[in-house]
This record gives sequence, structure tokens and C-alpha cells, in this order.
Amino acid sequence: MSKSKVLVLITGSIAAYKACYLVSKLVQSGFLVKIAASTSALKFVGVAALEGLSQNGVAYDSFEEGRAMDHIHLIRWADIVICIPATANFINKLAAGIGDDLLTTIALAHDFTKPFLIAPAMNTQMYLHPATQKSLSQLREYGFEILETASGVLACGEEGVGKLLDPDLIFDEIAKAVPSSDRLTPISKQKRLRVLLTSGGTSEPIDSVRSITNTSSGKTGAAIADVFAEMGFEVDFIGAKNGALPVADCKIIHFSDFNSLRHELFSALDTNDYNAIIHCAAVADFSVTNVTIGGKSLEPKSAKLPSDSDEMIITLKKNPKLISQIKAKSKNKSALLFGFKLSDGLNGDELTLEIEKQIKTNHCDFVIQNDIQEISGDKTMHKYHIFDENAKEQGEYIGAQGVSLAITQIILSRNMQNDFSA
Ligand SMILES: Cc1cc2nc3c(=O)[nH]c(=O)nc-3n(C[C@H](O)[C@H](O)[C@H](O)COP(=O)(O)O)c2cc1C
Repeated sequence: MSKSKVLVLITGSIAAYKACYLVSKLVQSGFLVKIAASTSALKFVGVAALEGLSQNGVAYDSFEEGRAMDHIHLIRWADIVICIPATANFINKLAAGIGDDLLTTIALAHDFTKPFLIAPAMNTQMYLHPATQKSLSQLREYGFEILETASGVLACGEEGVGKLLDPDLIFDEIAKAVPSSDRLTPISKQKRLRVLLTSGGTSEPIDSVRSITNTSSGKTGAAIADVFAEMGFEVDFIGAKNGALPVADCKIIHFSDFNSLRHELFSALDTNDYNAIIHCAAVADFSVTNVTIGGKSLEPKSAKLPSDSDEMIITLKKNPKLISQIKAKSKNKSALLFGFKLSDGLNGDELTLEIEKQIKTNHCDFVIQNDIQEISGDKTMHKYHIFDENAKEQGEYIGAQGVSLAITQIILSRNMQNDFSA
């Protein structure tokens, strides 16, 4: 029996990473998947991730040597085509019959004997623009199946229609269009890549109601976990009790103080085989060992201390660096370790020295660095830099989503030769 073949076209929308989730789900469900991506789409997701997830090459250049007839071969190969996400640009060009790049040429070569679904994703005004609406009706008339969009808060912060339909619902549309007898058994026996993520800040108790904590909200860690889960990774999330949590499907474990984080982290590392560990929790450098109040010396965590004394002396003891022990405690010795470094105005040689220190003393394979000076109020625009094990900068990425995608691509490309099917 031959597998059903799905051709996934990806265009340059901020929702392009959601196509990765769909591709992963299709492959896991027994479909054969090939991908063609526009050059704009590759600004949002990388070829390595798409190749890893689809287990096939990715077409993106009409004039690539040896692949000049891809636009015909791919469309004839497919039993069904889905464009996810479809930009306003793609929709409007297609309606006008333009074929000036690989994706529009593929779509022009479609013969309408097989289903061709289009899942738009764009800003509300772009979606409601008369040109886009006219193009969508034109495409329906031609025989393309235009999927609904969802309403909600868009990536640009505005609210309204135009949001990409939930990829699980898009999967259902594809599954409906192709008989399940044409699919092979799901590849559930093959393992998915598994990552462990720590996130949020520790809170060191002074007494039963007071603590010393830090400003970490856990939002970056939660956003990274969401991207990984949506990309089809199995995610174990060790997060601060009061920190932000991922909304996607992750296994969630809570910690409160340094000791509980150490316990949860080491037991997860000891029990499970992780392909990568992303350590972005803000860990207390010191914990409270003793509190002296009104001349009396007390253990932290004892009942609420009185507030009528003029002086409270808190003794802090330096904590060991958890990150430096992760590699040694890890069951999978080849797991990749990603550490985070928040610097304050460092650059040039000073920055290189700091990154080298992280790599040598903490045994990190990659360091993700951001600088307080480069952090603006808008969290989605924070700049992150990734350095490899030779302290060489791999690139600059914008926002938690941008850096997460870059991390997924590093993990996918390092595991490509292994027995992986996400
Ligand atoms: C950060 C960013 C996000 C974008 N998101 C969208 C989007 O969601 N939908 C859309 O129609 N265009 C979006 N665009 C604009 C497209 O990328 C642009 O029109 C591009 O030319 C589309 O090329 P393609 O249709 O060949 O992929 C975005 C652009 C940027 C810079």
C-alpha cells in the first residue's frame, strides 16, 4: 500500500512555525510529506528544521541545479496540497495568475483533480482588504478550498480575524480529504526528540511568609516550551511555582526554591534520556541559612517571624552552580546543553571571555546571551545571540520565538543522522 502524499507549501507569515507542527503531525500519522517554502518563509523557519521534520528535502529555489522541474514534479507527486500559512501576497498573486517564484508556479501547475487547501494567516486589515477578499473568492471559484481563519490576538498585537486556523483542525481537514486506508501505521514506535526546560526564578525562604527572589517572570521559558511542543518535541518543563506556564502540551513540574529546583532537575536528568537541556531558570546564587532577630538565631522557613524588631540579620550561603553539574548528572551524555547568560553592557573581548567561561566552567554546548542594554519594553523584540562551543556567534535572533526556532534547528540538525522521527 502506498502512503498518502501531502505537499506542504509554506509562505512568509509569522505563523510559519505552526506549519512545523502540522508537518510533524502528518509524518507521525503516516503521511509522506514534501515541503516547498518561499524565500520569505525561510526567514521564519529554517531548512534544517523542515528537512528534519518531513524527513525529505525542502524545495525553495525554482532555478536550483537539478531541481528545475520541481514545480511540476511536486504538484503531480502530491495527493493533496496545503498552503500553510498562506500570506496575503501569495493569495493575491495566485488569484491574478502570477507565477514569479517556486510556490506560485507550483500552484499555477495544479490541475484541480486533487484537493488544494489554502490556510490564510495575516493581520486583520490585510485579510479584510478588498483585494484579499476578492482574491479569496476568485480562488474559491477556481476550485481551491479556502480554510477559515480564527479570531483572536494576532502576532502584531491587534485583535480580529485573520489568525491561522488551529493546525490540529487543518490536520483534520487533510485527513478528511484523504482516505485513512491510504495511510500506513503511525510511526509512534519511533522516538520523538525530548527536551528538558527549566524556567522562572527561585524564591529562597526567610520565614514561612517572606522570601528572597528575583525578577524572572518565566515568560521566556514558557514561550520557548510552546514553540518546542508545537514543533512536535516532547517537552518536560520544570517551572517556578508562580512563573508563566506553557499553553501547549508539556509535562509540567514545579519548583519553589533552590533545593527543590535541584531535586527536580537532577531526578529528571537521572531518569530520562533528553536530547537537549535548555536551562533558563534564574537560580539563586545564595540561600538563607540563618536569621537572627531580636538576638535569637532561627532557621529559615520557621514560623512567621515577628516584625517589631529593629533589626533582622540574614545569613546567606553561596549555592553551587546547578548548570555546571547538568552534563555530569545527565543520563544521556550526548545531550546538548543550552545555557543562558544575561550580560550588562558587555561586548567585544569582554563578552567573548564571559562566553568562554560559560562554556568551560558550565560545560555548555551553546550559550544564549542577551544584554540588559538591548532589552526594550517590548518582550517580543528582545535580542538574543547564540554562541557555539567555540564561542563563535551563530546569529542574532529577535524574541523568544525567534531564538526558540533557532534552538530547535540546532537540535534537529545535530540529531538528523540519529533514528529520529518527530
Ligand atoms: C515579521 C513579519 C511578519 C509577517 N507576517 C505576515 C503574515 O502573517 N501574513 C502575511 O500575509 N504577510 C506577513 N508578512 C509579510 C510577508 O512576509 C511579505 O508579504 C512577503 O513578501 C511574503 O512573501 P511570500 O508570500 O512569497 O512568502 C510578514 C512580514 C514580516 C517582516
